[in-house]
Amino acid sequence: MRPRENEQTGPLTAFLMADHRRLEKLLQSAVAHVDQIDRGAYEQFRAGLLRHIGMEEKILLPAAQRLRDGEPLLIASRLRLDHGALATLLIPTPTTAVIATIRGILEEHNILEEGPGGLYEICDKLAGSEAAQLLAKLQAAPEVTVPALRHSYGDEHRTPGTGESWL
Ligand SMILES: [Fe+2]
Repeated sequence: MRPRENEQTGPLTAFLMADHRRLEKLLQSAVAHVDQIDRGAYEQFRAGLLRHIGMEEKILLPAAQRLRDGEPLLIASRLRLDHGALATLLIPTPTTAVIATIRGILEEHNILEEGPGGLYEICDKLAGSEAAQLLAKLQAAPEVTVPALRHSYGDEHRTPGTGESWL
């Protein structure tokens, strides 16, 4: 989703939307061949999405809450639920079904963040003169160290963990 025409895109919106597009391209590359998932592209997507989620969970949402005198955004709890679900889906071996589920969640989730009145627009407005400083913090967010993907064989015998500890 693009911001409305004639509306200037704020720096936080521009940066985070560009990262969404980058992640979409990586996921697209991972499934470019019908019968084989490109593990290299998927690994980059997985690390990138976890870093992106980390930027929002650890930097953006707390900043928004601080700028609202400690009041969390109404949208924050829904976004956090989505982030938890996405992180968990990034744990197992990527199958077509897992990737379809991730895409389904991201489609709605990205609208809530990018759309008019969404998270990014709200944050640009709240940040005001602090936007550049907040952007620098997002840009400096560390890469996320993720465990290697599990092998397909035996996945069903392992207890699914939660991805939240990576965030
Ligand atoms: Fe998000």
